[in-house]
Amino acid sequence: MKHRKSLFGATLLVALSLASAHAQAPPKPTLPLSDAKMQQFITSLMQKMTLEEKIGQLNLVSVGFDVTGPVVSKDVDANIKKGLVGAVLNTYTPVAAHKLQALAVQESRLHIPLILGYDVIHGHRTIFPIPLGLAASWDMSALERSARIAAEESAADGINWVYSPMVDIARDPRWGRVAEGAGEDPYLGSRIAEAMIRGYQGPNNDMTRPENVMACLKHFALYGAAEAGRDYNTTDMSRQRMYNEYLPPYRAAVKAGVGSVMSSFNDVNGIPATANRWLLTDLLRNQWGFTGFVATDYTAINEMEAHGMGDEKKVSELALKAGVDMDMVGEVFLKQLATNLKEGSVRQADIDQACRRVLEAKYKLGLFQDPYRGVTEERAKATMMKPAYIEEARSITRRTLVLLKNDRQTLPLKNTVNIAVVGPLADRARDMIGNWSGAGDGKQAVSILQGIKNVGGPGIRVTYTQGVNVTDDDQLIRRLNAYGGELSIDARPAETTIAEAVRAAQAADVVVAVVGESQGMTGEAASRADIGLPGRQLDLLKALKATGKPLVLVLVNGRPLALPWENQNADAILETWFGGTQAGNAVADALFGAYNPSGKLTMTFPQSVGQIPIYYNHKSTGRPYAGVLLDKYKSRYLDISNDPLYPFGFGLSYTTFSYSKPTISKNTLRPDEGLTVNVTVQNTGQYDGEEIAQLYIRDLVGSSTRPVKELKGFQKILLKKGESRQLTFHLTADDLKFYNDDLKFVAEPGDFQVFVGGNSRDVQAASFTLAK
Ligand code: BGC
Repeated sequence: MKHRKSLFGATLLVALSLASAHAQAPPKPTLPLSDAKMQQFITSLMQKMTLEEKIGQLNLVSVGFDVTGPVVSKDVDANIKKGLVGAVLNTYTPVAAHKLQALAVQESRLHIPLILGYDVIHGHRTIFPIPLGLAASWDMSALERSARIAAEESAADGINWVYSPMVDIARDPRWGRVAEGAGEDPYLGSRIAEAMIRGYQGPNNDMTRPENVMACLKHFALYGAAEAGRDYNTTDMSRQRMYNEYLPPYRAAVKAGVGSVMSSFNDVNGIPATANRWLLTDLLRNQWGFTGFVATDYTAINEMEAHGMGDEKKVSELALKAGVDMDMVGEVFLKQLATNLKEGSVRQADIDQACRRVLEAKYKLGLFQDPYRGVTEERAKATMMKPAYIEEARSITRRTLVLLKNDRQTLPLKNTVNIAVVGPLADRARDMIGNWSGAGDGKQAVSILQGIKNVGGPGIRVTYTQGVNVTDDDQLIRRLNAYGGELSIDARPAETTIAEAVRAAQAADVVVAVVGESQGMTGEAASRADIGLPGRQLDLLKALKATGKPLVLVLVNGRPLALPWENQNADAILETWFGGTQAGNAVADALFGAYNPSGKLTMTFPQSVGQIPIYYNHKSTGRPYAGVLLDKYKSRYLDISNDPLYPFGFGLSYTTFSYSKPTISKNTLRPDEGLTVNVTVQNTGQYDGEEIAQLYIRDLVGSSTRPVKELKGFQKILLKKGESRQLTFHLTADDLKFYNDDLKFVAEPGDFQVFVGGNSRDVQAASFTLAK
């Protein structure tokens, strides 16, 4: 190992080869993070920088593969050496990270280290359930642990910047990216954003520690409200809705100290987010106090040409002036900013400010002190997928499973010997790790079939048959396989394969049908207009039902699906999302009763795609429908009720819970006071189990129309069989505040209701008044 005095006076550890890096001393004590020191350091560095080098810091290039877009960066090594690259994405491993970092710190004129980013979304090598699944655990420590393990693995693999958490509120399950977020609720979404950031950046946001990474909040903003659920589509909404319903999780993340923000692809009320100065500067920085840097999404500046905002030169100007600091992959800044400056459409101060923010991020990551952050092959080997992580993955995955139906206690499987495991998602390890599983390896994941064999043990006999293909749409199959789908397609007619499955069912005691979506049918650029089971899967289920055998559905999917027939006809339904590396074992733990399901939905499941958008915290309307058939002039459909298939917050357990009526500590709350809501929850069934008690409020009269329910608290508790516990929730006037028509955050005096229960529908109410 060679030590070299850097330009900055700090000793840079220069690893000439990985072999020498192995001997690297443990990471050094952290740089003092005093703002003044950082600014002084950066000012003196920037004094040495040319305009070209400053613009270079704003350039984020992609190497390796084009997972998320058609563009791959060219001449990466040469550009790093010229100081024309500030950050790199889409590569990892100690070797790759060392190679890139060495180019920057040894071969560029000013030796400025690189930020190395990657889409670490739900785990890095050890893959956890997709974010929508993780959210269904309602377990903040499980979420934080999943992010912590992802941070430790990705940091050991040379990454220092992760593109998570994605906190876009989503109410439209046609949108494939609902899989990547926490669902429809702003309160829960905010708590989850905070937990994930703690996990990535560490409890004190001390990112100089080599096991922490910088998080990137995305996609700012309102990406989840794309019209018609079609990815990248227009977003247009009132400011009031924005502030009350969509912005809270982003804001919570900024408060929690997230280091960076990614601007979204969509336009926001007519201005693309990436050119939206109101969004990126007035709101994010001036109102919320964000001090990190803003990167665009993949080629989002270039895409503003298609949005119709102008030519490349113009969109370059718009993005910088709006508050973008880093251009992801599009190289618009690299090509245009010098001209913009020359022509006077941007100022030197605008470029300097963006450059400073990027350098600050590098400083906060401790990169000027140790650009390699203690990354060695030994550390990587000792960290990746270590047994403790795999064990945690299994335990976290179990907590994300949602039992949607369980007639006559079909589950857990008891005294069952012969199990027919049927369905296109049963033997699919690749699908288990889901979409955006970056460095994860499907081959190291446990399929549900394998999990059933592992957990069922020698006492059970399993017959497996695929039954039908996940889809028979040739074009879709081609597309999915072009992006790593690895689908196993049975070329025989569905009638033949269904008949085979029926024979297996007839010979079994119970049928476990593993149905749903392939991972590539969810995530980015994966919107669906029909959200039923794809292909011939419903035909398969109907044939299985006709055998009269108990029918257990195990759902594998990344979005709420419309499953009216399934809900009516299956004996039990277990929602398992894409459960990650340990999916099969965790699902089997639940099927056999080694774990009692405890997850609850964070997105409403509709009966039909025609009800979308459907969400629990909707407004009342002036003609609310109360279920009276001949009540014609009400807000309702002719052909379907307004009810969801499964409401927000819903999920069953093998045991049952009863709730007492909530009691409130006072009938009148003064604005400077708090009150408590008490409720007793009892485990009234035959198993120990966890329950997620949820507290909602309703503001009965307001200066604006108010939602019929809003989540304001929840507690996940374990109750032994027969046990009961009193739970206390605290509310203050702050919890009653909302943004009024003038966008003032106010609590308006008047009557409120409080509801407590096990989901957003089945609740008991109490009332109080907020005094003037
Ligand atoms: C996605 C982002 C992602 C980025 C980098 C984009 O296409 O929208 O979520 O972080 O690519 O891969």
